[in-house]
Amino acid sequence: MIKKKLVNNAKKIDKFLIKFLSKQKNSLLVNPMKYGVIAGGKKIRSTIILDTGKIYNIKEKKLINICAAVECIHSYSLIHDDLPCMDNDSVRRGKPSTHIKFGESSAVLAGSSLLTLAFEIITDKKFLLSANAKNEIVRTLASCSGHTGIAGGQELDLKFENKKKRISEIIDMQKKKTGKLFNFCLYAVGVIANKNNKEKKFLSNLGEEIGLLFQLADDFLDNKGSSKLVGKPVKKDNKKGKSTLINLIGEKKAYLFANNLKKNILLKLKKHGKKAKDLTSTIEFILERKF
Ligand code: IPE
Ligand code: IPE
Ligand code: MG
Ligand code: MG
Ligand code: MG
Repeated sequence: MIKKKLVNNAKKIDKFLIKFLSKQKNSLLVNPMKYGVIAGGKKIRSTIILDTGKIYNIKEKKLINICAAVECIHSYSLIHDDLPCMDNDSVRRGKPSTHIKFGESSAVLAGSSLLTLAFEIITDKKFLLSANAKNEIVRTLASCSGHTGIAGGQELDLKFENKKKRISEIIDMQKKKTGKLFNFCLYAVGVIANKNNKEKKFLSNLGEEIGLLFQLADDFLDNKGSSKLVGKPVKKDNKKGKSTLINLIGEKKAYLFANNLKKNILLKLKKHGKKAKDLTSTIEFILERKF
C-alpha cells in the first residue's frame, strides 16, 4: 500500500522535474543533475508533504512545486554527502554515486545547481501563490538548508566522527542534518493552507521530529539492513566512527527511544483525526521500513 503510494508520488515529481528542466537552456550539468535527482530514491519527503496537505484539504497541484524543490535540495545533499571529503560512499540508490559516474567537480557543481534549482522552482511564475507566501517559503527553505539546517548539521556530523558526544548533541546534529528539511515540508503546507503562527509552529516542530525519526531509522538500517534493499552500503557508520544513538547507547535503547518518539508524534497528530490517516501510516512506515 505505502509502497504504491511512494512510487506513484515519485513518478509525479520526476515528471514535473523533467518538464521543468526541459524548459530551461541545456548545460553540461543537466545530466549529472538528472542522475542525482530523477528516477531514484523514495521521495518520501514529497509523500510527507502530500499527506500533510490532506489534513488541510490542499490540492496536489498547489504542492507539487514544493515537493520538487525539496527533492532537489535532498538530492543535492546526498550528492555532496557521498563525496570523498564527506562520507566517501561509491554507491547510492543502487547505482554508482554521482561523483563516481561523472567525476568530483561535476558532482559538486551539479549538487550546487540542484540547490539553486529548488529556488527557481518555488519562485516560478506559474506557481500561483501570493508574493508573501512565496517569500516566507523561500526564507524558510533557505534557513533549513544552510548553516542552521542541513549544511550546519552535516558539518557537525563530520566533526563528531570518532568523538564521544552527549545524546543531546547527537540529537541536535540529526535534527539539523535531516530534521530541518522535514520541518520545512510540514511548515510549507501550513503557509499554503494559510494557517496561523501557532499551527505553523506546531507543524515545524512535528516535521523536525519526523525527520529525527527518519534519521534514526536510517541509522538502524545501516546497522542491520540489507544493502540490496536500501541501495547503499551498510555497516559503515561504525567504521567511520559516526556519532549515532546506536553507538552511544546500543541498538536496543536507541530503538526504544525511537519508538517513544514515534508514539509522541502520533499522539500530537490525534487532534487532526481521520484527516491525518495518510500521514500516520507514512510515519508508521518510517520506523519499520526496510528500504
Ligand atoms: C537518506 O535519505 C539520507 C538521510 C537523510 C537519512 P533517503 O532515505 O530519503 O534517501 P532516498 O532519497 O530515498 O535515496
Ligand atoms: C545524511 O546522513 C544526511 C544528509 C542530510 C545528507 P547519512 O550520511 O547517514 O545518509 P546516508 O546513509 O549516506 O544516506
Ligand atoms: Mg553523512
Ligand atoms: Mg552518508
Ligand atoms: Mg546513513
